[in-house]
Amino acid sequence: MRYDFAPLEGLTDSIYRRLHHKYFPGVDRYFTPFFSPTVHRALTPREARELPPADSMVFCVVPQLLTKVPEDFLWMAGVCKDLGYEEVNLNIGCPSGTVTAKGKGAGMLRDLDSLDSFLYTVFSSAPLPISVKTRIGFESAAEFSNILQIYNRYPIKELIIHPRVRKDFYNGPVDMKNFQYALQESRAPVCYNGSLRARSEITVFSAAFPAVKSMMLGRGLIADPGLLTPGGTTADKLEKFHSELLDEYTRGFGGTRNAMFRLKENWHYWLCKFEGAEKLGKRLRKATDVGEYKTVTQEIIHNLPMREEIIPDWD
Ligand SMILES: Cc1cc2nc3c(=O)[nH]c(=O)nc-3n(C[C@H](O)[C@H](O)[C@H](O)COP(=O)(O)O)c2cc1C
Repeated sequence: MRYDFAPLEGLTDSIYRRLHHKYFPGVDRYFTPFFSPTVHRALTPREARELPPADSMVFCVVPQLLTKVPEDFLWMAGVCKDLGYEEVNLNIGCPSGTVTAKGKGAGMLRDLDSLDSFLYTVFSSAPLPISVKTRIGFESAAEFSNILQIYNRYPIKELIIHPRVRKDFYNGPVDMKNFQYALQESRAPVCYNGSLRARSEITVFSAAFPAVKSMMLGRGLIADPGLLTPGGTTADKLEKFHSELLDEYTRGFGGTRNAMFRLKENWHYWLCKFEGAEKLGKRLRKATDVGEYKTVTQEIIHNLPMREEIIPDWD
């Protein structure tokens, strides 16, 4: 099985990926949160930081692009190639209203003729292999067979399927019937993504779908960063990981307060790993002072028992 870390905007930036790999090895590939290439034909300083040369990292990264303009996609895919990346991923799943209203992300699923013509142009001169991360429909899963017919016209390196429709956002049951359909009908190899959060769930999934050779994990891996690491997530490792993230974000964001707010996003998930975290979790959410934040995080890490498997507060 190959394990990929899902792209998570606001969470899995380059600092996170580097430190996650350092403390919790076991992920085969990290997907970047989406880049939105524009007509300007230049990376912003932030994009350049987020997309270092591929050989400067000791782990594998796949850049993800979000656009409906084939020329912009091809330009940025060329930049990725020059930086040494071996694959780019196309986002056809983002459910955000501002993205879909522009016909991007999951919005591409609303106009299949445009999707077809986008893929035609892009695959006609792609400088790199392209994988696609997709949902199974915009309004309804009944759209999926037509969507898959279009994907099957192109040499997609891998089809990563998040079996929900746009209006589900990230919650509710995943549609395993349509995932099974994709497994049978897709020309491209299929990777599964969605709501796998524990070793037991991974085992059950693998037994049910032995033909699937790759899976992508997101929130479960944020909540339990050692999910794929021998020895799992220990208090000691989590403390070191958190402490180095705080240092690096403090440098990167120009201050501990911004770093703290950034890390609270992680804590939203990490708290699911601890038993009895309600009271300290509430104090943590309310903390605006970095001293208080550090005290509470130390108390959580050192005083609360860690669960073997997380109890997610999403889905
Ligand atoms: C906060 C957040 C940010 C996300 N950002 C991206 C993104 O940049 N690109 C993308 O393709 N999916 C993004 N996703 C979707 C995830 O990659 C993944 O498909 C989804 O969370 C389902 O997988 P999971 O249940 O393992 O988390 C995001 C999801 C969340 C919750």
